[in-house]
Amino acid sequence: MGERDRRYIAELNEGEKFYGFYLVVEKVLKYAKNDNPYLDILLQDRTGRITAKLWEKAQEMDAEFNVGDIVGVAGAVEKFRDSIQIKIEKIRRIDEEKRIEENLTDSEFIVTTPKNIDEMWSEIWEIIKNIKNPYLSKLLSRIYRKYEKQLKSLPGSMRLHHAYQGGLLEHIFNTVKIAKSICKVYDEINEELFIAGVLAHDIGKIRELSGRYVFDYTDEGNFIGHVVLGRDMLIEEAKEIEGFPELLRLKLEHIILSHHGKYEWQSPKEPAFPEAQLVYQIDEIDTRLYQMKNSIESDVSEGKWTSKSNYFKRVLYKGENPEKPLDNEDNETRGKEGKETKTDDKQTSLF
Ligand SMILES: [Fe+2]
Ligand SMILES: [Fe+2]
Repeated sequence: MGERDRRYIAELNEGEKFYGFYLVVEKVLKYAKNDNPYLDILLQDRTGRITAKLWEKAQEMDAEFNVGDIVGVAGAVEKFRDSIQIKIEKIRRIDEEKRIEENLTDSEFIVTTPKNIDEMWSEIWEIIKNIKNPYLSKLLSRIYRKYEKQLKSLPGSMRLHHAYQGGLLEHIFNTVKIAKSICKVYDEINEELFIAGVLAHDIGKIRELSGRYVFDYTDEGNFIGHVVLGRDMLIEEAKEIEGFPELLRLKLEHIILSHHGKYEWQSPKEPAFPEAQLVYQIDEIDTRLYQMKNSIESDVSEGKWTSKSNYFKRVLYKGENPEKPLDNEDNETRGKEGKETKTDDKQTSLF
């Protein structure tokens, strides 16, 4: 590849030319203001995601590869607003033979939770096993046994938080740990109802999202959403447990239906008792903290403060000596996005 180096997404630096192998997560043919077609692509490898633009022969190239394919890319890293993106110079689908030749295993392309999935899983099971209420314990055991595969692999959400494999489990793990520590302070809380509510609040994601490497909303996810789907699943599972008390089921239904907190955030109910209020606020803590960390890490503007173009729409403090996140190989930079800019186009000999 001549003078170019192979790069993972988290290693990309503004201005450099590089080559690499990535998974295509999204691909859309769009038209610029001057009517020129281009491909707007989202690429992923085990270190993160980045937006890429292809201007050359965009219509023709649209048929050459699809979402879910592994591609070889030669390109340049450009800055746009406060993010970086790739300008693709060459792109080619990598077939099975070439994958073996280049030793490109699946783990090269999947972004996973930084936490250990099996350890989180066994800690959650420990918590379920310690629940004394037989109905709550049966209910959670049923759900966690039946959906183990999905609970271990799905992302926390498509874009907003923990948007990587195992992200849902990480989110459940974080929220249940926070819940456990809150119980030490407020002993008037019904701990078992609260913990069961936390463990069940996002089960609707099992039916809202699907996919193996590239996740997407299911039809029922788009039509109904995880809040109501979760309530449906809870009713179905509770029905299978003989004598499940109606009031207990209603309280759990309410926790699921109110966990987004406010009507303006598409919550069908607002929390009506302390355990429901706490589930909503814990969910908010874990989600917002992730978004803040991610906004700080993926910001590429100079100095100690981020720009305002982030979820919070305000400047965030990066520290006295902020390292440019993209210079740091260990950094988890995810969801970098930007818009198209143009630079000079050089041919490469990669393909
Ligand atoms: Fe949720
Ligand atoms: Fe949640």
